[in-house]
Amino acid sequence: MNKYALISLVGVIVLLAAALVGTLIFMQNRPVESRAIQAIYDVAPMEPNSELWGRNFPNQYSSFLRTRSNTVDTTYGGSSKFSHLEKDPRQVILFASYGFSLEYNDDRGHENALTDVREIKRVNETTPGTCYSCKSSDNPGLWAEMGMEAYDKMKFSELGEHIDYSIGCSNCHEAETMRLIVTNPALEEALEAQGKDWRTFSRQEMRSLVCANCHVEYYFKGDGKYLTFPWQNGTKVEEMYEYYTEVEFKDWEHPEALTPMLKAQHPEYEMYTAGSTHFNAGVACADCHMPYVRDGAAKYSDHNIRSPLLQPERACGQCHNDVNSVTTRVSLIQEQVYNTKIATEDAIVDAINAIKGATANPTSDQTLLLEARELHRQSQFYWDFVSAENSMGFHNPEYVLKILAESTNLARQAQMKAAQAANDPSLLETDTYYLNQEAGAVTP
Ligand code: HEC
Ligand code: HEC
Ligand code: HEC
Ligand code: HEC
Repeated sequence: MNKYALISLVGVIVLLAAALVGTLIFMQNRPVESRAIQAIYDVAPMEPNSELWGRNFPNQYSSFLRTRSNTVDTTYGGSSKFSHLEKDPRQVILFASYGFSLEYNDDRGHENALTDVREIKRVNETTPGTCYSCKSSDNPGLWAEMGMEAYDKMKFSELGEHIDYSIGCSNCHEAETMRLIVTNPALEEALEAQGKDWRTFSRQEMRSLVCANCHVEYYFKGDGKYLTFPWQNGTKVEEMYEYYTEVEFKDWEHPEALTPMLKAQHPEYEMYTAGSTHFNAGVACADCHMPYVRDGAAKYSDHNIRSPLLQPERACGQCHNDVNSVTTRVSLIQEQVYNTKIATEDAIVDAINAIKGATANPTSDQTLLLEARELHRQSQFYWDFVSAENSMGFHNPEYVLKILAESTNLARQAQMKAAQAANDPSLLETDTYYLNQEAGAVTP
């Protein structure tokens, strides 16, 4: 073989190898379905009507529709909208005069999000349009059209005229490619503030990040009620608390303690990604909440998103051989977290009562009283970070128990400061025995 033939042969081999690698990389980055099946119908970018997407992907669509009719509950979660306030009356005291003391229901499936937000008693004439941000597949289109700033400035009632659909395909997928994308501008901005670009994220990271479009802590910034994730300093509870303190934000003032309060909102993504065992092992939200289902030769992701405890064989069994022992572990973790959480609530209620007593006393030291309120604010935000998170601790048990210990400690310090401010030892009493009886949770 002459030199030139050899060079061309090597050249051809190199080219073929490069083409193969290129094809493999391309295939690797395709969503599972489109590796084999081409979409038959064109779907417009950001199409809000999931039914139109469903013509191309009937399995995903029909499983997704089932989120509307799920009603089965588990010990601490599940799909009915049971009242957290009835289950745990302490929360009426903790959220006094704020909307969450009027009505606070458990979450239901994605197809009910729009109905549920429209029915909730917390909504009134002053409610900002921003509340629709995680409830509808109309949002990506509206944000592209008018920008999030204009969207957030509208009133809930006014914006509602532009919103017809509950959560749908357009909240998680790009229509042209079906890849998973960030659709909420607030998430895009929060990542940017941390110097992160989701376009560089791996597919496995995106299988959690799409949920962070909604399952995160957020607040409404300024008079324009601009949707903002408090992630500038990081996503740990103390980093978000520090952020809120820096920007001097409060959700409401507690009417008895006069404390400027914060309400935490479903921080599933932050809790899970704060070094949980599963997160560290590379497991994504979709692994447990959207396990693969077989349909003949095809397999697809179950879009009937709900509690994994309702189908542990599929949700956990893909990785754990002994499904019974891991679900027993879940029960133990959740029970321990629930009881610890109730004990923390008792401590916060005591703090509120002590601060109330010290506030009523005209001779109280105002500086100490302010310090007591600051401790109350921090304690309740920490507790709420666990309480408003929807897994009753399972997503990150060690972290949750650490936060609750810190919260209880802060609440007891608040109570002591208040007693000190009023120079009144009677404010150190703990008065929560009857509440324990009522909720039937902890035996004192
Ligand atoms: C290792 C499995 C696993 C992973 C990963 C996981 N979860 Fe969960 N999740 C659970 C379990 C178990 C529960 C508790 C369900 C219950 O109590 O019925 C739960 C509960 C929930 C709930 C409340 C469900 C209900 O019934 O009310 C939401 C919402 C949720 N998870 C969202 C997420 C999000 C978002 C992520 C990723 C950031 C995630 N989960 C990651 C297992 C997981
Ligand atoms: C567009 C916003 C949005 C996105 C994206 C989103 N969720 Fe949700 N999710 C919600 C809302 C809102 C609810 C509560 C609906 C209600 O109560 O009516 C909810 C409820 C749930 C529930 C409770 C279902 C039940 O039956 O109790 C689970 C579990 C859940 N989501 C998991 C996830 C996971 C996992 C992801 C990512 C793969 C995700 N969600 C992405 C907004 C979203
Ligand atoms: C809450 C977010 C969310 C919504 C809403 C959603 N999907 Fe998905 N979808 C996912 C995730 C996560 C995956 C897994 C992607 C992966 O593994 O790369 C997925 C995967 C897919 C795939 C790839 C094949 C598969 O099953 O894994 C198709 C096709 C798909 N979804 C269609 C739809 C359609 C159609 C709708 C609307 C009816 C929809 N999805 C709504 C999150 C969502
Ligand atoms: C995609 C794979 C995967 C899925 C799905 C999964 N797990 Fe795991 N799980 C792991 C890995 C990996 C570990 C860590 C290694 C170990 O300790 O076995 C783990 C650890 C655990 C542990 C021990 C954690 C600890 O801190 O001691 C429990 C409990 C558990 N999983 C429960 C569940 C439950 C319940 C489900 C279903 C809702 C589930 N897992 C779904 C992979 C998975």
